[in-house]
Amino acid sequence: MIRISSTDRVFILTGAGISAESGVPTFRGAGGLWRNHRVEEVASPHAWQRDPRLVWEFYSMRRRVAAAAKPNSGHEALARLEQSLQDRLFLCTQNVDDLHERAGSVRVVHMHGELFKSRCDRCDRAPFDDSATYEPARSDGCTPRPVPRCRCGGQIRPHVCWFGEIPYDLDKIAAGLNDCTVFIAIGTSGLVEPAASFVARVRGRARTIYVGPDEPANTFAFTDCYWGKAGELLPNAFRFD
Ligand code: OAD
Repeated sequence: MIRISSTDRVFILTGAGISAESGVPTFRGAGGLWRNHRVEEVASPHAWQRDPRLVWEFYSMRRRVAAAAKPNSGHEALARLEQSLQDRLFLCTQNVDDLHERAGSVRVVHMHGELFKSRCDRCDRAPFDDSATYEPARSDGCTPRPVPRCRCGGQIRPHVCWFGEIPYDLDKIAAGLNDCTVFIAIGTSGLVEPAASFVARVRGRARTIYVGPDEPANTFAFTDCYWGKAGELLPNAFRFD
């Protein structure tokens, strides 16, 4: 049971595990590969330089999977928590899907970007909504959609943070971490920086809690761990003092 007092400020970090029960595969779970590519090989500036069509093929697949998925009871429990805590909850996700929003969460910080947005790889045009898929030639003979172009001539890329790029909203996140009295990581392997180090930044002055079925790599930094699936544990996890 996670007790929350009327003065607590809660920082939640979610990872791929929160969406696993919605049918969105995690990165390092069973398989963990996409057509024999490690995710680092299709989610990097280098991959984009080398083969933008392959990159779009990967993100088109992810758009299709995420669009077909529905929020699960874990996402819904966090949306209800936001209704109770309002701005005393800071919800930071490493996920690029929109399942938190579709469950009803309003203030979601997507540190690794958003799957249903795109931006130009050359000009500073703002990221825009885009749920299109750009796939290569299919066996049914459909014409492949080419890599989309911006009016400036640049190529349109997914609005996601790739390996080697700097995550978004780090200033806002630092303020949320500074402020919190309870830190809860849910469904994240604790392997990818900078998110993996958030718990170490608050440890000692905030309660640190992990929720998920497996030990994360940074398990030593948590004071309490609740082992199990987010969709099963979160609906009854919070008690308000
Ligand atoms: P990982 O795939 O590394 O880890 C997923 C975690 O979810 C594991 O620790 C599982 O134990 C846990 N898990 C599985 N099913 C769960 C369930 N039903 N409920 C709760 N937890 C469950 O995913 P992340 O840690 O999110 O970055 O990966 C971090 C980043 O690495 C991603 O955002 C992505 C990736 O490369 C970028 O693309 C920049």
